[in-house]
Amino acid sequence: IERTLSIIKPDATKRNLTGKINAKFEEAGLRVIAQKRIKLSPEQAGKFYEVHKARPFYGELVEFMASEPVVVQVLEGESAITRNRDVMGATNPADAAPGTIRKEFALSVGENSVHGSDAPETAAQEIAFFFSGLELVG
Ligand code: GTP
Ligand code: MG
Repeated sequence: IERTLSIIKPDATKRNLTGKINAKFEEAGLRVIAQKRIKLSPEQAGKFYEVHKARPFYGELVEFMASEPVVVQVLEGESAITRNRDVMGATNPADAAPGTIRKEFALSVGENSVHGSDAPETAAQEIAFFFSGLELVG
């Protein structure tokens, strides 16, 4: 059993899609074991996406992630990291497979509705960024 960090991004919270996106996770065999709705400061968003600091879209990404509340959550399940990435779909919704969250809900490569950790090390780091051990009940 594995855990991954998921974020329902501002474009999706703004359009009231939290429940529809969570239904996708649950249908894919992922369990939402922790969840909270928060508004990131630009500083927090910048720190979370620090790995992308050198990318041309970094400023835009940080501004977007701090623009509206997000829902941060921990998903648990068998191969949760890859399973979540599969249900999210490709970064650019134009390339995302039918049935994926980004295909159905994302607006653009930037406003793409969800974030998911990409490896066990980043999942552990990202979960610890938002949640304390006491908040995680498997
Ligand atoms: P995350 O789960 O959010 O990390 O998405 P990802 O792993 O599919 O993509 P990646 O880590 O490469 O990029 C992180 C995020 O930066 C993406 O989800 C997008 O929101 C944003 N992003 C990536 N490429 C572009 C781009 O070309 N333009 C803009 N505006 N944003 C981008
Ligand atoms: Mg990524």
